[in-house]
Amino acid sequence: MNRLPALCLVVIFAACGSSSSLLPDGGSTPATGGGTGGGSAATAPTYYKDVLPITQVSCNNCHVAGGIAPFALDSYQAAKLKAPLMADAVANKRMPPWLASKSCGGPFVGDRSLSDAQIATITQWSEGGALEGNAADAPAPITTVEQLPKVDLTLQMPQAYTPTLRDDYRCFTIDPALTQQQVVTGYDINPGNRRVVHHVILYLVPRAAALAKDAQDATPGWECFGGANVNTEGTLGAWAPGGAPVLFPTNTGIRIAPNQVLAMQVHYNTENGAEPDQTSVKLMYGRGTEQNAYLLPLVADQFSIPPSAVGYAHSENFPNSLGFPIRVWGFLPHMHTKGTKISMTAPNNECLVDIPRWDFHWQTQYFRKVPVTIAAGGQISLNCTWDNPTAATVTWGEGTSDEMCFAFIFATL
Ligand code: HEC
Repeated sequence: MNRLPALCLVVIFAACGSSSSLLPDGGSTPATGGGTGGGSAATAPTYYKDVLPITQVSCNNCHVAGGIAPFALDSYQAAKLKAPLMADAVANKRMPPWLASKSCGGPFVGDRSLSDAQIATITQWSEGGALEGNAADAPAPITTVEQLPKVDLTLQMPQAYTPTLRDDYRCFTIDPALTQQQVVTGYDINPGNRRVVHHVILYLVPRAAALAKDAQDATPGWECFGGANVNTEGTLGAWAPGGAPVLFPTNTGIRIAPNQVLAMQVHYNTENGAEPDQTSVKLMYGRGTEQNAYLLPLVADQFSIPPSAVGYAHSENFPNSLGFPIRVWGFLPHMHTKGTKISMTAPNNECLVDIPRWDFHWQTQYFRKVPVTIAAGGQISLNCTWDNPTAATVTWGEGTSDEMCFAFIFATL
C-alpha cells in the first residue's frame, strides 16, 4: 500500500508522458444548428453551416484520406453517406474517442468530447435528411492533423525487427547523440506496424549500458520483459493504442543528459502474425529553463480476478511519502483488454480522472490545465474494475492476456 514512496525514491524520477491530444478544444465550439424555431426547412441544420464547424475540429484530423480512421468524413458527399452512423457514434459517445468523464478532474487539455449541443446538431442534421446547405456558409479551413508544433530530432530503430515470441518484449537503443543536456517538452512515437506493436515505453539509460546489452547478440536490441533490463534513470514517454503526440504542460520538461540514450521497449504481440516493425520517435526540445517533470508509476498489482468474474474491483493507495508536496499535471491510466473501468482519486476524495467505459484501443495521457497538489502524506488511490470471461484466474502480468491496474502520473515539485 505504500509503494509510491519506494518507487519515487528508487526509480521514479524518470519522466514520461504518453498521449495528450493536440487538438484544439473540440468541446468549446457552440453548436449553431438545433433550430431556434420556425419552419423546419429553414432551420434544419446543414452540412456547411452547422456540421462542418464541428467535424473539421473534432473528426477530420482522423477521418481524412490517409488518417487513422477507416473512412473519410471531410466532404459533404462522404459525410452524407455516413450521416446516420455519425449520429449514432456521437450520441453514444463512441466518437470522437475520449474516454475521460467530463464530470471528473478536468478540464483536460485537448478534450475531444463534444458538447450536448454539438451532439444534438449532428443528430438533427442526420434526421433532417443530411442537408448540404450553402457552401458559402462553410467555416474557414483549419489544420487539424495531430502533430508536434516543432520537431527537433527524429530517431528510428536502426533496423527493422520481426518479433518471434507471442508476447515479445524487445528494447532498442535510440541514441539522440547529445553533446549537451536537452529538455524534452514533447514527443511523438510512431509505431512502425500497428498490427504487432502493443505498446512502446521510452526509458532513459546510460549509453554504455545500452550498448553493452545491445552487443550481446546479433539480433537488433535485447530482450527486456517488464522493464528495460538495464538500470534505468528515468522514463520519457509511452505510447499505447490510441496515443497521439504528447506535449508536456507549459514550462515543464524531462531532461536527457549527453551520456544517456533512450532504451525503447516495444511490446510486440504476434497473435495476428509476426510482421517486421521499425518504430520511430520525434522529440521536441525546450529552451532549457523548464521545470523538471517526472513520470511516476503507480503499480496496483495485488489483485487476483476469479474466473468468470463480472465487475471485479480492486483499489490501492499510493501515499506521497517524499516529505514535500508534489504537483500532479497528468495521468496515464492503463489496463489490458479485460478492464471495464479505471479511476483515480486524491486524498480529499477529489476525483482526478474517471474512465467509466475503458477501451484498450483508446489510451491516452490526460493533462490538467491546472495541476493538483498532493501534500506530503496525501495519498492517491487507483481503482480498477474488470470482467473476466475466461475460465482462469487472471493476475498482474506483462502478457496481453494478463491484466494490469497501472497509471503513470506526470508530476513536478
Ligand atoms: C482520434 C481519431 C478520431 C477522431 C477524432 C474521430 N474518429 Fe471516428 N473513428 C476513428 C477510428 C480509428 C475508427 C475505427 C475504429 C473504431 O471504430 O474505433 C473510427 C470509427 C468511426 C465510426 C464507425 C464506428 C462507430 O463507432 O460507429 C464513425 C461513425 C465515426 N468514427 C465517426 C466519427 C465522428 C462523427 C467524429 C467526430 C465527431 C469522429 N469519428 C472522430 C478515429 C477517430
